[in-house]
Amino acid sequence: MNVDDTNENESSVASLSEENLIHTVMQLFVAGSETTVTTLRWCFLHMIAYPDIQSRVQDEIDSVVGRNSLPRVSDKLPFTKATIMEVQRIASIVPMGVPHVAATDTTLRGYFIPKGTMIISNLWAIHHNQDTWDEPEKFKPERFLDSNGDLCHQNEYIPFSIGRRACLGENLAKMELFVHFTHLLHQFSFKKPKESPPITFESNLGATSAPLPFELIVTKR
Ligand code: HEM
Repeated sequence: MNVDDTNENESSVASLSEENLIHTVMQLFVAGSETTVTTLRWCFLHMIAYPDIQSRVQDEIDSVVGRNSLPRVSDKLPFTKATIMEVQRIASIVPMGVPHVAATDTTLRGYFIPKGTMIISNLWAIHHNQDTWDEPEKFKPERFLDSNGDLCHQNEYIPFSIGRRACLGENLAKMELFVHFTHLLHQFSFKKPKESPPITFESNLGATSAPLPFELIVTKR
């Protein structure tokens, strides 16, 4: 693609029109808003379902950051980060990734894949594989911590997919999730109203896999 960045050179060819640019920016908003908000909804559903984990996150934030300032991305909060990672693993909000097409004839592990074949990755299955994860259906943030309590990455943890076409917004999304999650838990506590329906982790599969609507009580700390 040729992009004319001078705008004044009449002889150059610009194939990125203003319309292309508007659509590209819109796609960033679409790809970036729904995904991040849905992940945060899963985060708070898990916080009301596991109040002990909510308290551990708040204790870690309080002891590292204190009560007089808000958490920053540079703060070392391994349990808190592991909690967000575990929500992303267990909820797998983009369960089937984004469809791709084989650009050339290729062979993968003995399987011939002709050019033009649609490829769909099952990220949900990777995140729930019993051969990789101990009790994959259980919510256990500790699985992302090593014996020193430091964060440890696992190759099979791929909520943003992998490869050249992996999520463009991964770093932005991680910062947004961290800032919203930690700021809200620093300032508020969340709990399930006694009279509300039982908590369910069933999901509504649309563009993303979202939790069903749920109620929570927000209390200022
Ligand atoms: C928790 C939040 C997010 C999750 C879980 C997520 C997940 C994903 C996944 C699984 C893909 C498919 C990658 C593939 O095709 O293999 C993707 C693609 C993409 N995401 Fe995200 N995403 C998130 C946030 C964002 C944000 C904040 C932005 C931008 C502001 C963004 C922009 C994109 C774009 C542009 C693509 C297409 C990349 C390409 O085709 O080259 N995403 N995302």
